[in-house]
Amino acid sequence: MKKSELLLTIVVGLFSVLGVGFSITFLFTGGANEGFEQYPNVTLAHVVPGLIYLALAPLQFLQTIRSKYPAYHRWSGRILATIGLILGGAALFIGIIIPYSGLLEQIVIGGFGLFFLVSIVKGFLNARRRNFEEHREWMLRAYAIGLSIVTMRLIFIPILIVIGNPTREEAELYSIVSFTASFFLHWGFAEYWIRHTRSSGNASSTSDAVSS
Ligand code: HEM
Repeated sequence: MKKSELLLTIVVGLFSVLGVGFSITFLFTGGANEGFEQYPNVTLAHVVPGLIYLALAPLQFLQTIRSKYPAYHRWSGRILATIGLILGGAALFIGIIIPYSGLLEQIVIGGFGLFFLVSIVKGFLNARRRNFEEHREWMLRAYAIGLSIVTMRLIFIPILIVIGNPTREEAELYSIVSFTASFFLHWGFAEYWIRHTRSSGNASSTSDAVSS
């Protein structure tokens, strides 16, 4: 494995653990959006599949696991694609029907929520067609968008700490600013990584981790 791939594998692993941790904390403490109490089932249908997705999807990118246990990769992939559709559908509901940050959230989550769902569907269909390079690329996009919920918190929480005692309006604004920045950062990085590994010939199934 190249140095850059090893570094990315470590960062992705760390982010996945953080994402699972944030989600478990949320299940015990709840969030600021009142809509979560209004629609507890939708909230659970987002957070629980979300944390399972974050915990298990990284294994799908590991070449060692794919080549040693191909049946596991296939079955886990089918389950993760289903889980992704559930959590993404619930994300669209939350972002559009009960947005914490109003219209801006409806637009941003509408766009990226749809992109997440389309990536999963395209990733799945390409695997069925045995078009594995495209399969890998769409699954990378979906996972990058999913992981951006960690970066969102890594931006949002320090902002709240710096402000000290934010008003509701400030919290709404910085929440959607953090969401938007993290989505674009992750999407941009995913596109860079896809092109970087494609041109260096790593896009086949021979390389490791997120490069394969
Ligand atoms: C893939 C793994 C994901 C996990 C583990 C996850 C987890 C969570 C958690 C724990 C919350 C509650 C946050 C809080 O209020 O403290 C949340 C909220 C939310 N998530 Fe996700 N999420 C994931 C993916 C996504 C995706 C892909 C989208 C959309 C593109 C999304 C959109 C949202 C929205 C809109 C909210 C509510 C924000 C608000 O209005 O307060 N999530 N998520």
